[in-house]
Amino acid sequence: MNPMNTSLWWSSLTRAAISVGLGASILLGASAAVGAEGGIAMDSWPVDRGQNAASLQNGARLFASYCIGCHSASLVRWNRLQDIGLNSAQIQQYLISGNQKVGDTIRTGAAPADQKRWFGKTPPDLSVITRARTSFEHAGADYIYTLLRGYYRDASAPNGWNNVAYPNIAMPHVFWQEQGPRETRIESTEARKDAKTGAVQHMQVVTTYQPDGTSSRTETPVTNHGAGGITYTFKPLNVEQSRRFDADAADLVAFLAFITDPTAGKRVTIGVWVLIFLAFFTVIAWRLNAVYWKKVR
Ligand code: HEC
Repeated sequence: MNPMNTSLWWSSLTRAAISVGLGASILLGASAAVGAEGGIAMDSWPVDRGQNAASLQNGARLFASYCIGCHSASLVRWNRLQDIGLNSAQIQQYLISGNQKVGDTIRTGAAPADQKRWFGKTPPDLSVITRARTSFEHAGADYIYTLLRGYYRDASAPNGWNNVAYPNIAMPHVFWQEQGPRETRIESTEARKDAKTGAVQHMQVVTTYQPDGTSSRTETPVTNHGAGGITYTFKPLNVEQSRRFDADAADLVAFLAFITDPTAGKRVTIGVWVLIFLAFFTVIAWRLNAVYWKKVR
């Protein structure tokens, strides 16, 4: 390689490194922004659902009935769902609609251009969504669990719904009938500066949304304003129905976490076997070592 080529090679390498770095910081910035947007603490997704075949299958069913109308998971083939205990015939019969085959990738029938027109945004591909929404503040699965359960009726929002995890989200509340009506109370602390004196007064702001989306707001001056942040409480009118929906949301997140990392379970199993092998091999190596050196000493 002549020196000219070498320096060209270095400069393109540096450029590549810079663009990778920039890309990474943009990605990190974007996910941090998602976390900061709501300013709320995420609910914990019940992790054990990810190991339960019945939960994963229920999640697959919900995904195929409620999400695929708008979202693809184009890195995943239908036959991947054999890993959660379904056979090809079941996948074809119960999950796939339209003319897709078991060997095809999971795709929505909606055209991105139409979706852009309908929602102002193209719904993201959900293949690796639980990883894509993982940030420094929260696990992606916790965020999506909070998001799916975080809708509330808000008459002032463009589509009549708002979300505590993603304020003013363009995605409608697809499960509104399953979740049932509820009352929402959102509490935050805001600092007000007096224009004349410059004194700062903290106000506790409480907004209450009725099940029909009408809201009322109260502001109370407070001296002890705590750590800030936003808290919310939901009061479902039908507690039993709302609990059933929570269980479905947990199953759906289990399915999304599975497609994000389908081999996670297998890796753990292999890891256990590797450790067992290493333990045995240590004993064998130790005994062999003793035999080999016996005569030498
Ligand atoms: C009617 C179309 C539609 C349906 C059905 C739908 N979504 Fe969405 N979804 C959207 C749109 C539009 C966005 C982009 C929202 C935005 O960024 O404001 C979105 C965004 C998302 C996001 C990303 C949110 C973020 O933090 O950026 C997730 C996760 C998601 N949808 C999950 C689901 C799941 C799970 C289902 C099935 C229960 C579903 N969606 C059904 C339209 C839809």
